[in-house]
Amino acid sequence: MMIKNSSEMLDNGFAILPFPNDLKIAVKDYILKKISHSTSVSLNESSSLDEITNAIKNLSDDDFIKKFSKPKRNLNGEPGNSLREFVSMLPLSFGGTKADINFLSPAEIKSDASFCNQTLDLPWRCVRPLKGDVGAAHADIQFWNINANTDLDPLCPMDYDERWKVWVPLFGCNKSNSIQFIKGSHLEEVPFIEIVNNDSIKPDIDKNWLIENEGRFECPFDSFNDNCVIFSDKLIHRGPKNNSDQIRISNEFTILLKS
Ligand SMILES: [Fe+2]
Repeated sequence: MMIKNSSEMLDNGFAILPFPNDLKIAVKDYILKKISHSTSVSLNESSSLDEITNAIKNLSDDDFIKKFSKPKRNLNGEPGNSLREFVSMLPLSFGGTKADINFLSPAEIKSDASFCNQTLDLPWRCVRPLKGDVGAAHADIQFWNINANTDLDPLCPMDYDERWKVWVPLFGCNKSNSIQFIKGSHLEEVPFIEIVNNDSIKPDIDKNWLIENEGRFECPFDSFNDNCVIFSDKLIHRGPKNNSDQIRISNEFTILLKS
């Protein structure tokens, strides 16, 4: 049975997948180099989570916003190509016939001189302890629909039928500070409006619906070591505030899948 057609996936809207350890090491190594560059603190694979946390915590809020803006947090180069290879093999166990990752949108491409129209959309996210570095609950399809046919519509390397999202835990992830899903919400009509926020349009899920469903938010992971999670682009999810005293870093990307 292919994962995408399993009853667990159909009912819950997500599934835990094994994530290759060598790929995780390559991604983590890439990110540590970026953090070293942004913080001027020398970090490598033997650096402790406290050392990484302190390097970032020592930046002022203004410096953090500048140095860790979304264009600065896009995985490029070798680990990006390896992630793309991982995705291309996914249909063997997941289902579908062909899979790839989308490129950045034209607006994002303009935001950094190193981007071009084939730069993969591979953001990594860094959530500082006790700071508001997280977004509101949403389903990714809401953003895709809002951005369709605008400058923020991601470029795509292939024709596809379905979108899936992958979230990869990297540094400091635990059950209380990592992604949370509302199981089964991909099958529900979730009320939301579109609001203008910092000059861009964003989905805003109905407050009453969120209050009623607050108790359903749940982190899907039991173990964070060798796993990632793949989920429907209709599944409601959020990143909680990081109440631990260490940094939390993850990576995410969309999978375009041909049936
Ligand atoms: Fe999302």
